[in-house]
Formats: sequence, C-alpha cells, structure tokens
Amino acid sequence: MGDPVITLRPAVHEDIPAFVALGRAVVPPTYGPIDAAYAQRMIDEWWTPDVFTRSMQTNAHLVAEVSGEMGAEVVALATIGRLAQSYREFPHVAGDREVMWKLYVHPDHHGRGIGSRLLAEVESRVEGDELWLEVVEGNEQAFGFYRSKGFVEVERVPDPAWPDDVWMRKVLR
Ligand SMILES: CC(C)(COP(=O)(O)OP(=O)(O)OC[C@H]1O[C@@H](n2cnc3c(N)ncnc32)[C@H](O)[C@@H]1OP(=O)(O)O)[C@@H](O)C(=O)NCCC(=O)NCCS
Repeated sequence: MGDPVITLRPAVHEDIPAFVALGRAVVPPTYGPIDAAYAQRMIDEWWTPDVFTRSMQTNAHLVAEVSGEMGAEVVALATIGRLAQSYREFPHVAGDREVMWKLYVHPDHHGRGIGSRLLAEVESRVEGDELWLEVVEGNEQAFGFYRSKGFVEVERVPDPAWPDDVWMRKVLR
C-alpha cells in the first residue's frame, strides 16, 4: 500500500462532528500539560457544534482529509477570519487583523506536512499584507513551528485566570 492521499478542501456544515472529534483528540495532549482545566474548558466551550456553526458564518474553514479504504477522514482543520468579526473583545488592538484562529492536526498525523500545507493555503487566502495568530503561552511545539514558518512574536496579552495569549504576525508580501 502506498502513502495515504491527503486532500485539502473547504469545510462544509456536515464536517462539524469531525471537528468536535478532532478537538477531543488534539486539545488534551496539546494543552493538558500547560493547564488541564484550560484544556477542558476549550473542549467544553469552544470545540462545540454551536460554536462551529456560528464560526462558519464568519470565518473560512479548511480541512485536510485522508482517503483510505474506510473512506475519507478529516484529520486537520484551519480557520481564518477577521478580528473585527470575532465574538471576542480585543481591547489592545486598534484596527482590524486577518487571523488564523485555528490550525490543528490530529496527533496521529503530525510531522507529515499537513500543517504546512494548510498554512500555505491559509496564507494564499489573506487579502492584506499580514497574517496574525494567537498561541497559548507554553505551547512550545506550535511556537517552533510558527517561527520556522516566518512568524514573529509581537505582543503578549496577560490573562489573570488562564495562560497568556501570545500574538504572532507574518508579513506576507
Ligand atoms: C503545530 C502543528 C499544526 C504542525 O502541523 P504538522 O502537520 O505536524 O507540521 P508539518 O509536518 O507540516 O511540519 C512542518 C515543518 O515544521 C517543522 N516543525 C514542526 N515543529 C517544530 C518545532 N517545534 N520547532 C521547529 N520546527 C518545527 C518541521 O520540522 C517541519 O519542517 P520541514 O517542513 O522543513 O520538514 C501540529 O503539530 C499540531 O496540530 N499541533 C497541536 C495543535 C496546536 O498546537 N496547534 C496550534 C495552535 S496555535
């Protein structure tokens, strides 16, 4: 058997159960070692069908899918949108930003180039000159990945109750 075929495509509403399952697979190993309560909160409050339904109205969602004998399986998700359309408040930001809100690859498929392919696709969809993203303080694996892709740290947003957010930016052209 050869290497599995990995395809990128825009997400559809029917993918939402696969996003929820992806969150349950990738969020605990990523954030559990940083703050277990935060990882649980992410799954309970942010990786839910309702939140994805709302998010798909304002943000672009891209998936990577592996095709095999059992059919196609969603193994990664990237989302991109504008800060001004987020339901969250960002008092430290003046103006708008294009933001990659999510880039998550199933742990069984890390290191196979899927994150790189999704990021390149996201970058090709940026209308302005810059792409922004947030990384949770302590997520060193993601920091390393983003640095290797040309993102630089711009600011840290402290949170008294949860890990800080670190904003990174890449100038694209
Ligand atoms: C971070 C993540 C998206 C990367 O996706 P991936 O598919 O595993 O990454 P790739 O296989 O495309 O790796 C691509 C490159 O990044 C490099 N890289 C990966 N981790 C790295 C690290 N910690 N430091 C430096 N380089 C790193 C690899 O060496 C590889 O380089 P190459 O293309 O020159 O060989 C993925 O590991 C993931 O989903 N992590 C958990 C969830 C997460 O933290 N998401 C980010 C939230 S902000």
